[in-house]
Amino acid sequence: MAKVVLSQVEKVYPNGFKAVHGVDLEIKDGEFMVLVGPSGCAKSTTLRMIAGLEDISGGKIFIGDREVNDIPPKDRGIAMVFQNYALYPHMTVYENMGFSLKIKKLPKDQIDKKVKETAKILGIEDLLQRRPKELSGGQRQRVAVGRAIVRDPDVFLFDEPLSNLDAKLRVHMRVQLSQLHKRLKTTMIYVTHDQVEAMTMGDRIAVMHLGKVMQVDSPLNLYHYPANKFVAGFIGSPSMNLIEGELINKNNRIAFKMGGIELTLPDSKGERIKDHVGKKVWFGIRPEHIDFTEREETVPLKGKISVVEHMGNESFVHFSLGDMQITAKLDSMDSMGLSYDDEKHFCFHMDKCHIFDYDNELNLSL
Ligand SMILES: Nc1ncnc2c1ncn2[C@@H]1O[C@H](COP(=O)(O)OP(=O)(O)OP(=O)(O)O)[C@@H](O)[C@H]1O
Ligand SMILES: [Mg+2]
Repeated sequence: MAKVVLSQVEKVYPNGFKAVHGVDLEIKDGEFMVLVGPSGCAKSTTLRMIAGLEDISGGKIFIGDREVNDIPPKDRGIAMVFQNYALYPHMTVYENMGFSLKIKKLPKDQIDKKVKETAKILGIEDLLQRRPKELSGGQRQRVAVGRAIVRDPDVFLFDEPLSNLDAKLRVHMRVQLSQLHKRLKTTMIYVTHDQVEAMTMGDRIAVMHLGKVMQVDSPLNLYHYPANKFVAGFIGSPSMNLIEGELINKNNRIAFKMGGIELTLPDSKGERIKDHVGKKVWFGIRPEHIDFTEREETVPLKGKISVVEHMGNESFVHFSLGDMQITAKLDSMDSMGLSYDDEKHFCFHMDKCHIFDYDNELNLSL
């Protein structure tokens, strides 16, 4: 077990492209840390630098108390599971799982014990004599994880290990991996572009964008207190509605104004952003904070429905407000009978809104 620390880590690829910009990140001993972000944000590059598969162009990486910048991958105490599993096709599951131990010249009986114990944890004891091509995607994935477990690493590194699986199996394996972490209590760093995986699996999540870490926090803190517009828009599904406009003073209260529409903010929020009156800002509100229920601090606005998507338990109602498209997430009972072109009063729950600086995109309303 070990903590992992990245200090001002940079990556410049040989073609001159700078993929990672001064990343600071501390992963605690035994923590399940998820690196999440859109394609190309440098999740894999960061993970591969931790693994030692990619040189570090600047900064330092520590695993445990050891700086590992110049330590080869095999001596870093890590085990990595890749998206494509990279199993040896000509070997049985047993041989695949035991291979790294055989290389280390462990006695046969010890290898046997370790492989069988691990197979039991993963529920693949019956598959040990099969070859990878005789396995389903989920089974292959478990073998790849098993191959990592037998090495007793201080840190597990996962790069999108579930992305080749169908939706149902992903959900199943997600739960299995979370349970595995609870059981092994080993530090795990898990890369995904899927925010649902990030939210459900991570003790903490590092949200990345363009080679930088935008925010590191627990899933619920990221959701409720996004530090900036990028995190606000990335975490949550459907995405937060983000609208540009300006802050104005209206009858001694602060309001957000866009076109002819004004949304008065609760005083508690207004107080925090009063220095920004007269400036351009982004207004953010999550779809679940728009509905048909009037409460204190709610502003009703008339919108015209463009699409209703029924999910069963809930519905996503897309409507236009002036020339803006907004999405509301409603209880499915509340969306019954709604249809295209209907005009409705949508209630914006302003106590739940966020205001972001227009230029640096930081959340001003926290
Ligand atoms: N060998 C390379 N040479 C130059 N640029 C590279 C190289 N490998 C990756 N990159 C670039 O570095 C950036 C980060 O790539 P990386 O693979 O780390 O992204 P990612 O977040 O893992 O994306 P994905 O979700 O698609 O896997 C991308 O812009 C990519 O094009
Ligand atoms: Mg990647």
